[in-house]
Amino acid sequence: MDFVNNTQDLVLPTLRKEGTGVSLVAAVAENGAIGFDNKLLYWLPNDLKHFKALTTGHSIVMGRRTFESLPKGALPNRRNLVLTKNAHFIAPGAEIFPSLGKALDSCNEAEDVFIIGGASVYREALPRAERLCLTVVHDTPTQADAFFPWLNPLDWEAINEVRHDADERHAFAYTFVDFVRRNIKA
Ligand SMILES: NC(=O)c1ccc[n+]([C@@H]2O[C@H](COP(=O)([O-])OP(=O)(O)OC[C@H]3O[C@@H](n4cnc5c(N)ncnc54)[C@H](OP(=O)(O)O)[C@@H]3O)[C@@H](O)[C@H]2O)c1
Repeated sequence: MDFVNNTQDLVLPTLRKEGTGVSLVAAVAENGAIGFDNKLLYWLPNDLKHFKALTTGHSIVMGRRTFESLPKGALPNRRNLVLTKNAHFIAPGAEIFPSLGKALDSCNEAEDVFIIGGASVYREALPRAERLCLTVVHDTPTQADAFFPWLNPLDWEAINEVRHDADERHAFAYTFVDFVRRNIKA
């Protein structure tokens, strides 16, 4: 993982399930790539299940381009919050907000909020995040135009890591890695 260079000593128990504040959820290649041409780079069924399990019943915040990339529009059984400066943007099944701050202010402090991309929103939200739920895909794509922000290992500690090998349904090996901000360890 080149975007974070300190994932040793991964021993701690799993994350608390509720009340963890703002989390970033992303599937990230080893070189930090997350997308190309407003599309995801990978189709990994287990990652989709993992994403669904994490976010269902919660609020998800995304940029306008990511919303437009969703094949069936707003994701069901979640509150969809879409960031755009365009007050006339139509987002069926979602609420639109002109800033990240306004979107987060609309959420209850005690609830879990998941930032689901894309690159610009991850960058802006990272300083406000308390945990990162990353799926690190063990690949280094050369064709990518959207990247996850670099993580300072002084700020983030990996507390849980589960690796899965490639198989007939998953073209690449991948690892679910949960990070918490070092000063707010679970
Ligand atoms: N691998 C993953 O887990 C993952 C997850 C999600 C997305 N992605 C990928 O990421 C790429 C898209 O990322 P992106 O950076 O190009 O687009 P994006 O972050 O999804 O959307 C950018 C747009 O969101 C709006 N926006 C962002 N921040 C805002 C703010 N603070 N206030 C108001 N509006 C704001 C603006 O919309 P307006 O221009 O309308 O004002 C901006 O043009 C795609 O390739 C996608 O597939 C990957």
